[in-house]
Amino acid sequence: MELMVAKDYQEMSLLAAEVIAKQVKKKPDSVLGLATGSTPLGMYGKLLDMVNNENVSFKNVTTFNLDEYVGLALQHAQSYHTYMMEHFFSKIDIDLSNTHIPYCESKFINEIEVCNKACAEYDDLIEHLGGIDLQILGIGSNGHIGFNEPATSLETGTHIVSLTEETRIANARFFSSFDEVPTHAITMGVGTILKSKEILLLANGSNKAEVIANMFSGRVDTFLPASLLQVHPNVTVIIDKEAASKLENKYQTNGHI
Ligand code: F6R
Repeated sequence: MELMVAKDYQEMSLLAAEVIAKQVKKKPDSVLGLATGSTPLGMYGKLLDMVNNENVSFKNVTTFNLDEYVGLALQHAQSYHTYMMEHFFSKIDIDLSNTHIPYCESKFINEIEVCNKACAEYDDLIEHLGGIDLQILGIGSNGHIGFNEPATSLETGTHIVSLTEETRIANARFFSSFDEVPTHAITMGVGTILKSKEILLLANGSNKAEVIANMFSGRVDTFLPASLLQVHPNVTVIIDKEAASKLENKYQTNGHI
């Protein structure tokens, strides 16, 4: 894994946006895997600047988001559909019919085969379009990627997941109360993520320092889903200094781990 330690959140966001811009310039019909959450907000902001000032175009790009809550209407203020529209899709020249976010209505949570079909179709579509060229990831403080939560075994394909209490507490900041945080989500599986040709993981802030240090422990552990990225041949991790603060000294600067 390549590690880049940025001096702050702004620099991390710029470096990440540059990786995406480079990919899209090299291959205008790139397939991108996208993440939501606080971490990539700055990156989307920098990309908007590049679209407006540097001729970066998403006209022929296709996107697949990592995940979505189950139990929120698409138009809900905290749905990842709303997030992507507000922060990115509505502001760039992308064809909205080429943007994909996994979805399963909560009424189907008890008819799991309906959700399972939606999950399988999501993976099939990614495959049909040639696979993801560049997947962007954030990381949960418990090591989740997408909503692949720590567990004794992890599912490979897109699937429905119960969110851990830790994740629901972490995400409660976006809702008016903890009880409003959905209990389930639909997420790409670790297999879906690992099939991407290139992966870019971002993390910032001291609350991610411990999980980043654990992720680089050299061990692969399903209780730390992000550690599975160590088996992928093309992963870049861009973090700010605070998120790097618990790494061994020799890793506190850019390099190969
Ligand atoms: C979001 C996602 C999650 C987040 C993670 C970190 O699409 O897949 O894995 O990347 O929960 O969230 P933030 O960035 O809010 O700390």
